[in-house]
Formats: sequence, structure tokens, C-alpha cells
Amino acid sequence: MIRELKSGLTLFQAVQRIRRERQIGNLRKSQDRGVSALLAAAAVESHERVLDLGMAGRTAGLGLNAAGIHFVGSDLREVRCCEKTIRRMALDNACAWLEVSPAVLTGPCFDVVLFAPARWEAKARVFELIDAAFGKLAIHGRFLLAGRRNAGVESYRRRLKAVFGRVETTLSKSGFRVYRSSRSAAETGAHPVDAAHVFDVDDIPGGPYTFEASSGVFSSRGLDPGTRILIETLDVKSGDRVLDLGCGYGAIGIAAARRALEVQLLDTNLLAVRCARRNIARNGVANARVALSDGFEAAPGRTFDLILCNAPTHEGAETARQFVQGAARHLKSKGRFAVVAMRPGLYLRQMKRVFGAVDQLESRQGYTVLFARDAKSAVTAA
Ligand SMILES: C[S@@+](CC[C@H](N)C(=O)[O-])C[C@H]1O[C@@H](n2cnc3c(N)ncnc32)[C@H](O)[C@@H]1O
Repeated sequence: MIRELKSGLTLFQAVQRIRRERQIGNLRKSQDRGVSALLAAAAVESHERVLDLGMAGRTAGLGLNAAGIHFVGSDLREVRCCEKTIRRMALDNACAWLEVSPAVLTGPCFDVVLFAPARWEAKARVFELIDAAFGKLAIHGRFLLAGRRNAGVESYRRRLKAVFGRVETTLSKSGFRVYRSSRSAAETGAHPVDAAHVFDVDDIPGGPYTFEASSGVFSSRGLDPGTRILIETLDVKSGDRVLDLGCGYGAIGIAAARRALEVQLLDTNLLAVRCARRNIARNGVANARVALSDGFEAAPGRTFDLILCNAPTHEGAETARQFVQGAARHLKSKGRFAVVAMRPGLYLRQMKRVFGAVDQLESRQGYTVLFARDAKSAVTAA
């Protein structure tokens, strides 16, 4: 405190600064080894602008003493979480952008890019982000990338080399790697990767369909078997108002729309929402709408005859609870809820708790379709 007061700050400013530094310290402590290694290798200076492409859904750079830290993410929840931290820590040098690519950012180029792709991220999506960030990097700017050997980091190193012409290893420890490249005036980047896929599906009900899916969207190279099984199992009635929860590029909602009265598609990922919107138009479906939404939030007060979901089981119990309890609140009386999952246990437990009886409509190729109707009223009201 004395140090702060001696440096000319008012008492209020000194308290604010100490509180902020403590919060930054806590944030750093809570970040894993990977972030610390990435930040140490970046050696960001206070006059520099940082582009933060995230660390498995979390920001890597918040709290850095930099001129600006711009976090870019396509998942609504990640960006909100980042905004919340910025507000809580009263950071005036940081901001979060909900965008599918840093290419759309305007303003001066960045001096540093930080990126630690999530383990489950599609390779072509990571390549696409590396390419886009290269285009936003100042000459002599540096790109730091971290990851695990068993999570594709070697292929990312090769992409850095193809884009920047060179790459150095700044950390190689117990399967963990940090790579660094810097931009010279001579490099013009690499050939763009093919990050969007278009495929026809004509052997599911209501077909034929043509779908477009960007890398980074679930099952972007073709119809997922679980998606197919749910579509084939569906009993959609012509008067149904349907919700496709976690719609991805939109296959389930669009297939339902060919038989239903109307369909609402929701997803938390902006990439997915944009693909679904294009696919609705591409397949000439006039009775479907798509919105960006964490769970059911973009459908407040609305109820549906049928709620469909290819479950994001890797997200764990919290999302399962959010989806199942939300479904109970958003179903009409006698409304139906169908979920397909590879490991259905998580959803089965939640559905039994909320709906009582749960049927297994189908089980093949490792996927199970769970079905329930009429939530128990006590839970519905909760
Ligand atoms: C297994 S994928 C299924 C995608 C699509 N329905 C299909 O079958 O191809 C699960 C989807 O749920 C979305 N998702 C995950 N959590 C969500 C949430 N809280 N709210 C809305 N969507 C979510 C993901 O972005 C992803 O697109």
C-alpha cells in the first residue's frame, strides 16, 4: 500500500490496484502449467497488443500487463465468461469479441498472438485460426502456440512452419510443447486450408438434403451416426412445434422441419449457428429459425411439442442438467423429449429424476436414443 501511495495514487486507487493485482494473482494460480508456460514464452511487454485465441475455452492472456488484450471466441459462454472476468477485475486493457475469426477485427495489427487449442478442436479449424491470426500480426510480431503431443500439437507446429517459414520450440516437457514463430516481411502465409465441407445426404427421412459445415462445427465432414439414428427414430407430427437443442450445422432441425409445423434451432456456437442458417436456406426450409443461445435462453417462455437433442456428452453433468431441466420447462403438456448419446448414462440419470419414466427408443452402433414425456410437475415448476 505504501508503495502505491508513494507512487502518487490516491487511497482509493491504491486499494483498487492491490485488489486487482490479487485477482490477477489468483487467476494466474488457477491457470494450469500450460498457460504459465505460454505466457512466460510470450514475454509480453507493456506497450504491446495481444490477440488471445484462447486456451480450451478460457482466455490465456487476461491480467497481462499489455497495451491491449483482445480475446476472440465463437462460443457465447466463453466470451461471456471472459467479459465477466474483465468486469470483475476492472481490466481497462482487455476486451472479448464473439466472432468466428480474428480476421474480422479492425484496428492496428497485433504484436503477440497466444493460442492453446482445445484437445477436441478440429485440426482444420486450428489451421484456419493460425492463418487468420497471421494476417493480423504486425511485421516482427510473434505467435505462441501451446499444446500436448497427444492432442495434435505436432501438426500445429508444421502449420506454423508452413505459414511463417520458421518455428522454434521454447518448451518441450513431459509431452507438453510451446512453439514460437515470428512474422517477417517476406512471408505471405500458406495456402488456405479447406475449412468448409459440403455434402449430400439422401437416405434419411425427408431427404435429399445438402449440408454445409465449417471445421470446428460438430461432425463437419458428414452426418454423425447419432444424428442419423435420431432423425430415423423421430416421430414428427405435422402440427408439431419442435426445438433442436444444440443444433450444430442443423441436420436434425432441418429434417424435422420437413415434417413439422415449425422448428426452432439453438446453439451456443456462432460458427454452428451461421452454418445452420445457411443450411436452412440451402435446403429451402421456410418454417425453421436458428438463434445463438446458451441452453434455452433464446426461447424464453416458449413451449414445444417435441425437443430433440444430440447431446454434447463431453461437456459433462452441468450441461446435461441444464438441458434436461430446461426441456421439462419448455415442453407443452404431453410434449416429447428425445436425446441421442453415445454414453447415455449422464442424460438417463437426469431424465429419470426430472421425467420419471424414460424409454430407450433405439440402441445401435453404440448410440442410444432416450425418450421421455410429461415431466414431473414439481420439477417442471422448479
Ligand atoms: C453433439 S453436437 C450435435 C450437433 C448437431 N445437433 C448434430 O447432430 O450434428 C452438440 C451441440 O451442442 C452445442 N451445445 C453445447 N452446449 C450448449 C449449450 N449450453 N447451449 C446450446 N448449445 C450447446 C454444441 O455447440 C454442439 O453444436
